[in-house]
Amino acid sequence: MANNLQILILAAGKGTRMNSDTPKVLHEVLGVPMIEHVINKAKLLKPSKISIIINRDLSDIQKKYPNVQTMIQEPQLGTGHAVQIFLKKNKLNNRKLLVLYGDNPLIDPIDLKNMSSELKKNDVVIMGFNQDKNNSYGIIVKKKGMVEEIIEFKDASKLQKKIKVCNSGILALSSKALQLVNQIKNNNVKKEFYLTDIVKLSKKYNHKIKLITAKDAKTALGINDMNELGIAETIMQDQLRKKAMRQGVQMTAPETIFLSEDTIFGKNVKIEPYVIIGSKVSIGNGVVIKSFSHIEQAVIKNKVSIGPYARIRPGTILEENSQIGNFVEVKNSKINKNSKINHHSYIGDTEIGEDVNIGAGTITCNYDGIKKNKTIIKKGSFVGSNTSLVAPVVIGSNTIVGAGSVITKNVPNNTLALSRIKQKEIKLPKKKKKN
Ligand code: UD1
Ligand code: CA
Repeated sequence: MANNLQILILAAGKGTRMNSDTPKVLHEVLGVPMIEHVINKAKLLKPSKISIIINRDLSDIQKKYPNVQTMIQEPQLGTGHAVQIFLKKNKLNNRKLLVLYGDNPLIDPIDLKNMSSELKKNDVVIMGFNQDKNNSYGIIVKKKGMVEEIIEFKDASKLQKKIKVCNSGILALSSKALQLVNQIKNNNVKKEFYLTDIVKLSKKYNHKIKLITAKDAKTALGINDMNELGIAETIMQDQLRKKAMRQGVQMTAPETIFLSEDTIFGKNVKIEPYVIIGSKVSIGNGVVIKSFSHIEQAVIKNKVSIGPYARIRPGTILEENSQIGNFVEVKNSKINKNSKINHHSYIGDTEIGEDVNIGAGTITCNYDGIKKNKTIIKKGSFVGSNTSLVAPVVIGSNTIVGAGSVITKNVPNNTLALSRIKQKEIKLPKKKKKN
């Protein structure tokens, strides 16, 4: 079955209801464009080919996803018209087609597999979902228990608007049904060619039509505006948190924690309220992430403690048992075992050896206005508070840097480096007493 199945994703719509300059399907959910969620789920079915109908603003999609075929639909005359364009460029030769919508990132691959196996026995398989109060979705109209047609909300009668079975938009067609796509007309309120009219047409030719219901109605959400985009993010974040908690991650206030799809967790991880984890973060065993911390593109090894109020930026590696405390920013740096940066510091483009202590307010001056320079702090060293390390600079092992120093030259191993001005004491004149 799988290899004579082709998948078509419709994504050419202008998305005017988004009120945004970014094309609708490029808006991100969990930090990933919604079209990519749909492509990834389509791939799980191992189809022979994935094609996407796009508009001119989306022509970069071909570069980004080279394994899919893209076709431009200009002007966009409706979902039925989009499939007509696809058929002009694709000979079907007994193939079957699953049609997905680019604005449906929540679809459940299990439902899709279900549809593709139902297509073995039917010509049209539609996926419906139940919604108590429909105010926009197409309506699945039945007669004597059999699907009769899908009618768009705007075209429906008052009575039809009360029907609770809605159209998810996802549709699977046999080659027999596909031959009817070119007969779709645009006699409706929007003067568009509706793909959903394929149901009525197939009925006329006595084709077999099957309705399946989405396992979870939430997964049928179509994103047409920013409100629905926000709802999709909430649903998908909730799914990620639940998955992490099932793996043993402890969250004090899960609804305040934001994860990425690719976050990797070890065992016994604890996350306090209000934490954001961006893409490409892996977290080892026994890690504690305290409140208000923001982490992205970083590797966090076992028993590390982060935060509260820490910012871990791309390219950071925190080795075992290291500690990053409050108001500390670390970027593109490696912090080796047992080292601590506990308060108010900026560490960028730096390598810190094992057992190093970085005092409060230490700043690596990594940028000279033209390029970024590296700081190396070797093992066992102690950097006193309020130190500026002007990179490129190497602090040897087992050194002490006195508080308040501005270090501009390399410091040899086993030395004390001080660069502050000698303290002076000047006697003050006696204060006159106020009368
Ligand atoms: C569509 C369905 C509706 C269903 C709903 C589910 C039709 C006629 N209606 O309505 O029954 O309940 O989805 O979310 O299919 N697109 C093109 N070319 C076009 C027009 C649209 O590629 O000319 C693409 C859009 O980019 C989008 C998808 O098709 O990804 C659906 O189009 P949209 O305008 O969002 O349809 P809805 O009004 O939501
Ligand atoms: Ca839609």
